[in-house]
Amino acid sequence: MGHLDGKVALVTGAASGNGRAMAVRFARDGADVAIADIDTAGLEETARLVRQQERRVLAVECDVAKKEDIDRLVAETVRTFGGLHIAVANAGVVERETDCFTMTEEQWDRTISVNLKGVFFTLQAAANQMRAQGTGGRLIAIASIMAEWGSAGTPAYCASKGGVKQLVRSFALACAPYGITCNAIGPGFIETQMTAPLREFPPLAQYLIDRTPVGRIGTPEDVAAVASFLASDEASFVTGTIVFPDGGITAGLYSRALAMAREQAAQGRS
Ligand code: NAI
Repeated sequence: MGHLDGKVALVTGAASGNGRAMAVRFARDGADVAIADIDTAGLEETARLVRQQERRVLAVECDVAKKEDIDRLVAETVRTFGGLHIAVANAGVVERETDCFTMTEEQWDRTISVNLKGVFFTLQAAANQMRAQGTGGRLIAIASIMAEWGSAGTPAYCASKGGVKQLVRSFALACAPYGITCNAIGPGFIETQMTAPLREFPPLAQYLIDRTPVGRIGTPEDVAAVASFLASDEASFVTGTIVFPDGGITAGLYSRALAMAREQAAQGRS
């Protein structure tokens, strides 16, 4: 018995990282899962992992930058499983090797069309399906700690994630009368292929760990655990908000080295 028994969940960007972990977690919790991505090889592997949980899986090639792909994804999910109860708009990209001074129109459009337009139309298609079913539902969008922070190197990513935080508020208000909640998850630094270039630069990885009160980089399973709760019936009073699985990094200025030095000084005084 899982707390998502009998539910149907949909996850975009499910070929790797956070999306894969959420798909597998939902299956472990009892849901059948539709998984979508542009990376069909990665989808195959996620499908295998979902089947290992003895749940049904539907893998759909889908580019979330195209509204018609999202509409087809939702239609195929409903045709296959008979409904939709949980939808996670997770697919995302980050611009690389650019900054505020050099970003091109193409780079801007790519990030915004996947991370913001893609999230909007995923939430819209899922919300309309849930509203038509009359069953209520759970909408989740993956934002980031970059919904709160700026970054000289990734201005479009930050703008898109700040936009996601606002989108979930709008959907929460629109969907409340139908028993549909809408929330965002704002992960901190998580070990996925998106952050591989950061982790390959040891001084930066060490800086991030030092800056994080919990003292480690996060895992996709940390994100999936939050999604599992937000997707549950127990989360019916939580809507329009953003939950940060970030090890405390957005709580305020912090240095682990300084905190340890302070603790040593306190022990010396006692
Ligand atoms: P990832 O790169 O492992 O996963 C992203 C997935 O999205 C990939 O499978 C990719 O093929 C897919 N994707 C890209 N463009 C797509 C499109 N147009 N249509 C459909 N799928 C597409 O990276 P990760 O970290 O798992 O990212 C998942 C989400 O988590 C993203 O929204 C990202 O911004 C967010 N996030 C990640 C953090 C991290 O530290 N890894 C921190 C905060 C947020």
